[in-house]
Amino acid sequence: MPEIKFYKHDPIPMEMHKVKIVQKLNLLPVDERLKKMQEAGFNTFQLHNGDIFMDMLTDSGVNAMSDNMQSAMLRADDAYAGSETFYRMNDKLTELFGIKYLLPAHQGRACENILAQRFVKPGNCVIMNYHFTTAKAHITRLGGRVEELVKDEGLVSKSTLPFKGNIDLEKLEACILKETPENVPYMRLEAGTNLIGGQPISYENMKAATDITRKYGILSVLDASLLQDNLYFIKTREESMKDKSTAEILRMIADLFDIIYFSGRKFGFARGGGILVRDEALFHSMEDLVPMFEGFLTYGGMSVKEMEAMIIGFDESLDMDIISQGPQFIKYCVDQLDAYGVPMITPGGGLGAHIDASQVVSHIPQEQYPAGALVCALYICGGIRGMERGTLSEERNADGSERFASMELVRLALPRRVFTLSQTEYVIDRVKWVYDHRHLIEGLRFVHEPKTLRFFTGRLEPVSDWPEKLAAAYKADFGEDQ
Ligand SMILES: Cc1ncc(COP(=O)(O)O)c(C=O)c1O
Repeated sequence: MPEIKFYKHDPIPMEMHKVKIVQKLNLLPVDERLKKMQEAGFNTFQLHNGDIFMDMLTDSGVNAMSDNMQSAMLRADDAYAGSETFYRMNDKLTELFGIKYLLPAHQGRACENILAQRFVKPGNCVIMNYHFTTAKAHITRLGGRVEELVKDEGLVSKSTLPFKGNIDLEKLEACILKETPENVPYMRLEAGTNLIGGQPISYENMKAATDITRKYGILSVLDASLLQDNLYFIKTREESMKDKSTAEILRMIADLFDIIYFSGRKFGFARGGGILVRDEALFHSMEDLVPMFEGFLTYGGMSVKEMEAMIIGFDESLDMDIISQGPQFIKYCVDQLDAYGVPMITPGGGLGAHIDASQVVSHIPQEQYPAGALVCALYICGGIRGMERGTLSEERNADGSERFASMELVRLALPRRVFTLSQTEYVIDRVKWVYDHRHLIEGLRFVHEPKTLRFFTGRLEPVSDWPEKLAAAYKADFGEDQ
């Protein structure tokens, strides 16, 4: 979507849709929010959605469907085996990606499970630009390791570089030589990157990286869950690609990889997932894992209604009017907060606006989860639910010590087509308030700490009565009822 020009107003991001169905929101008073946070064990995953004003936890499975997606659901063909819906989905993906074979799965992490089970052996090293929590957990569970080779600039929070998700090509080749190609079952590129601020990878970088893996006979896997944002950034930031259509760019990317998987909760605006496999023998070698863990090969745990919606959603994921909106709202949010002085990940990427908690609450030691504390503060002061993407989202080292994350981020996701600009303005306003009162925020410690993916179900407590003090300061400024 080109930027809409205004007569007497600076340009602002525009919603290129109108609202047809709505869901009422609740804004609980601050004291109740404090209580809900305590009940949730200072973990935003444990909050109930009805107690949240702005749910910016994730863009996963919470994007708004279009009228066309909803109407497509009516033609879903219910069948345990041989559903026509599956063949329509397979045909659409083959048309877009040029890859024939599809293994359906109930969501992105299920694809990661299948890939890890098929390829990872104890001691193996899977190379990535950057890990995603579940992608890594499946690999380490099987005794594998992950080597993250994002370029150093990807971990610098303030920047103007357009493709901070790029993999370091020299490190990639050196790593393959050090490990030996036999010990690297696949390279996984994530386009764009979830845990380092939704930052994209350029086409040029994907091409160069897959040229290297091909040279050494290593499989290349693309995690396309966030590809719609990445397509937007390639088209708007990569000079050599700006005259190509998103469909052409998608096809050029797809042609580079042996295997492509995606979370349909993101790519496709519905709920599901799938693995596209170029090679027939490779496809057959993974086939048995689908009926064993997901569902029969023609639905893979997905509802056929969702699959029909997704077929339309794939086309919408290539429509610049639709895929521009997320990045433009994110840029607006990031730029406003950056101008105020809030340390943000810049330039704005996809998925959401990311606050650099390591700088905002630099007085909180990393072992007390600065991003975890900041995300709780935002719920207490505004009813905004974000997600911690830092040390809390890591797993401990084998010796029990903390594995400190390279970045301590609070992610405020902007699910597609969900929030309006006035709601975005509210979030910006509350982040500014929290930033100005950051000295009141202190750390958290675990009271119940699961070994794997602890951020989902762990329970924590504040190290002092800082949440009460923060709520009292908020009440003094906004009153009891806000
Ligand atoms: C890049 C990336 N890969 C994989 C996944 C996992 O997908 P799902 O949530 O559908 O399991 C996600 C989810 O957030 C993601 O962002």
